[in-house]
Amino acid sequence: MTAASSTADSASPSFKTTTSSATTRTASTRGISEGLHPDPSVRAGRGVPGPTHRSNTAAGRRTNRAKITMGPVFGARCTKITKMQRRAKGAALILPQRVGVWFIGARGSVATTAITGAAGFAAGLIGPTGLVTALEPLVRAPLPRFEDLIFGGHELTDAPLLKRAKLLVDEGVIPPSLPAAVAKSLDEANANIRPGISMEVPPKRPMEAIHRVQEDLRNFRSAHGLARVVVINVSSTEPPIQPHPAHSDLGALREALEQEHMVLSISSLYAYAAMDSGCPFVDFTPSPGARLPALQALAREHAVPHAGRDGKTGETLVKSALAPMFASRALRVRSWTGMNVLGGGDGAALAEPERARSKLESKGLGLEAMLGYDVESPVRIDYVRDRGEWKTAWDRISFEGFLGTRMQMHFIWEGCDSALAAPLVLDLARLTAYAHTRGQKGALVPLAFFFKDPLGTTEHRLDRQFAMLCEWLTDLEDR
Ligand SMILES: NC(=O)c1ccc[n+]([C@@H]2O[C@H](COP(=O)([O-])OP(=O)(O)OC[C@H]3O[C@@H](n4cnc5c(N)ncnc54)[C@H](O)[C@@H]3O)[C@@H](O)[C@H]2O)c1
Repeated sequence: MTAASSTADSASPSFKTTTSSATTRTASTRGISEGLHPDPSVRAGRGVPGPTHRSNTAAGRRTNRAKITMGPVFGARCTKITKMQRRAKGAALILPQRVGVWFIGARGSVATTAITGAAGFAAGLIGPTGLVTALEPLVRAPLPRFEDLIFGGHELTDAPLLKRAKLLVDEGVIPPSLPAAVAKSLDEANANIRPGISMEVPPKRPMEAIHRVQEDLRNFRSAHGLARVVVINVSSTEPPIQPHPAHSDLGALREALEQEHMVLSISSLYAYAAMDSGCPFVDFTPSPGARLPALQALAREHAVPHAGRDGKTGETLVKSALAPMFASRALRVRSWTGMNVLGGGDGAALAEPERARSKLESKGLGLEAMLGYDVESPVRIDYVRDRGEWKTAWDRISFEGFLGTRMQMHFIWEGCDSALAAPLVLDLARLTAYAHTRGQKGALVPLAFFFKDPLGTTEHRLDRQFAMLCEWLTDLEDR
């Protein structure tokens, strides 16, 4: 076990800890290697600019105390921030425990980028850009430290993580010198990866497959002396599953699995195995996972939290920031058309129409809830191998204003999917582990901010979701 540190302001690579520092103190200000961090101001040791960068003048400090803004996207304020600040008194308590992060799809682009990035951050080689938990006020919560995260997972492919990370360098996702700099961590994580359950060869005895996954989780936990293990699904998207009566009845589900009926998708087998072993579960994909009512009952029975589903990283993220603008200005959206092209393993998986159906369903959610009326909103996804790890989304919004005058808005989102997703996966691992320590069980509704198809809420507006997340975290600390 790693010894506890009473504050984050030690030599550890935790986020900034002081309330009044003129510059944000981060790992990036300590020993960042030239050429690794893309931001010139970080390379120059001036810290990471952006929402956490605040004034240290007397007037600035007063403003900081009175009002914490969340940066350009986050117009909403968190009502309980000042309370959290008072309690934290500028120094976050750190969980003195190692936490396992077990990826389903452990050698995929998102998992590899997350493991490489976490090791780089823990070593002080990269800054926290993209990590929501690096923002005020989340940075003050006593989440597990990066150096206390131990990675492992299930996979179907054999290529070692280091090799996978180098391929992501070739794609422009990971900085060139980072894989070699964190090679030891990648090799350690690689040694923790176990063969997964394949959808191509579904297990004849589902309960046996579940027990094998559980044994892997148990071995991982005991080999590394982990306080808990968070299981995160970042494997290939599955098609939607045929409804079955056992999906809504935990007793019937157990019986069906014992009788060797394959009534669950592979993602749901993993979710069952995880939660039945007392491990929190995060669905970062649109696959069925833990979404079924019987599995939600299992989560409550074992008092474990779960979160999902389908990470909100690109087009849908922009939608959830823009749609509330149209709504609050009383501008009527007439249609919202989205075209997406992407490559990579995710794009290849989504080239199968049945798998794409899962993604299109989760991408299509939310607009009606945010606008307050139904709107024509077709979304397309096309696989273009040449795009590699990059995704382009073109959106055209047709709307009308006063006098019924018709107008249009177009946007183009050119995103590196894994660089957008990996920090969120790390945020989710830390937040879910913390929720587990605080006795949270069942669906973690306040984590809606991270997902296209959030569990347990119809709130899709990004600023409201962020406020909900901040308040939840403050409340957890106050308990
Ligand atoms: N990147 C993003 O912005 C983003 C956003 C939201 C959701 N997602 C979802 O995250 C998932 C991962 O994306 P990616 O780009 O890393 O895809 P990827 O194809 O690079 O990685 C998926 C990995 O899962 C492995 N895998 C497949 N089936 C498995 C099984 N049954 N057991 C264990 N491993 C298995 C594959 O071998 C592969 O290595 C996808 O489902 C994607 O839709 C990604």
